Amino acid sequence: MVYKSPRKTAVAILTRVLSQRKSLKSLLTDEVLSSFNKSDRAFLIEVLYGTLRNLHLIDYLIEGFFKNKKGLSAFTINNLRTAVYQLLFMKIPEYAVTCEAVNVEKSFNGKPSVVNAILRNFIKNYSGKSLEEIFNSNLSLSVKYSHPEWLVKRWLKRFPLEEVESLLKANNEKAPFSIAVKPEERALVAEYLTEKGFKVEFSEIVPSGLKIQGQGYEIRQSLQQAPFFWIVQDEASQLVCFLLEAFEGARILDACASPGGKTLLTAALMKKGEIISVENNRVRFKILQENINRLRKFVPHVKIKPQLADIHQIEFKHSFDRIILDAPCSSTGVIRRNPDVRYRVNEEEIKRLSEIQKHMIEKVAQFLAKDGILLYSVCSTEPNEAEEVIESFLQKHDEFSSIKKLRTYPHTDGMDGFFMAKLLRIK
Ligand SMILES: C[S@@+](CC[C@H](N)C(=O)[O-])C[C@H]1O[C@@H](n2cnc3c(N)ncnc32)[C@H](O)[C@@H]1O
Repeated sequence: MVYKSPRKTAVAILTRVLSQRKSLKSLLTDEVLSSFNKSDRAFLIEVLYGTLRNLHLIDYLIEGFFKNKKGLSAFTINNLRTAVYQLLFMKIPEYAVTCEAVNVEKSFNGKPSVVNAILRNFIKNYSGKSLEEIFNSNLSLSVKYSHPEWLVKRWLKRFPLEEVESLLKANNEKAPFSIAVKPEERALVAEYLTEKGFKVEFSEIVPSGLKIQGQGYEIRQSLQQAPFFWIVQDEASQLVCFLLEAFEGARILDACASPGGKTLLTAALMKKGEIISVENNRVRFKILQENINRLRKFVPHVKIKPQLADIHQIEFKHSFDRIILDAPCSSTGVIRRNPDVRYRVNEEEIKRLSEIQKHMIEKVAQFLAKDGILLYSVCSTEPNEAEEVIESFLQKHDEFSSIKKLRTYPHTDGMDGFFMAKLLRIK
């Protein structure tokens, strides 16, 4: 998967993302990134994120240049897509893009002469055209912003046209790199990062949040040996932990815990107590354990117990004061961080997830003590996974009442798209 050439690596990763439905994050790991120098790393990230953010548009633009598309491998098509991205969005000289794309094609015994011919024709037609010109031509929203048509249609049913357009636009913009720290250490951490050369901004939403300018990999490396509590976490995800109102000494269940962002920030906020963090996926459980082990020393009075288990199967002897159910979802609220999500998710999947979420909330609710709070959250824009889950639960359970429901969106709040519902057990 990792080749010396960042261009070839980009094509190989893109092919696995699009053909094998692997997530970009699971392939473009820090280990992969560490094998490149800083400028190649930046190039690789830009080409992958950029091509995925503009895939429909790129396909629309090159469609007319194929003679026999069916005869081409996914690798060749992705080589062409990344080349077109470099030409239009990165303004890399035409001869360099063509020459490198042909080299990549040769290196895996593809069809270099076809790649050469298609790119030369493309350049002949598009040379001199600006991106604005292309964007302002008569394109559908789905092509212009590279989102599946069914998703655009869904949003058009719920929001006015201008709002859908600004959501689509926000989904294609680079998200800020946000971390959560202990609120009482925020100024100190900001100073630490500023000294390392990063531009840092305080979150206005949450007292634990810092927004840092720069490439995620470089920031994570600079923070690796830092002598304080920090985790990568969007402001919306941090907000869930504040809504929970975890008090000192509370017993908490985090029902869907990996990678542990909410478990750990909750631990930092409550200072003392117990959190049982359940995760059913073995690989993700390992990540959860690693994150807890890294930060445990900064929250010495909170007993954090990671548990590899399926929440549907689990039983507890005691009830909990607080429960976080950050359920698995379509992730349509985090498309700006994961541009590949839009090509994986579909309407059937949303319906399937909605059923799972309804079962999960039924299951965990029974573990909540009277006067306890259950916080349900999903990083989804879709009501089937959000409002509908809560309404259907409340209809069956008059022992619960809803205290607060909240939605965040990238285009209106500058945060990930989350739905949060705070439920109180009244009897
Ligand atoms: C949205 S993520 C949780 C993110 C986490 N709360 C955080 O803030 O870092 C949902 C997690 O639930 C896990 N999960 C899915 N089904 C589960 C089940 N039946 N029991 C336990 N965990 C489950 C998934 O593997 C995934 O890691």
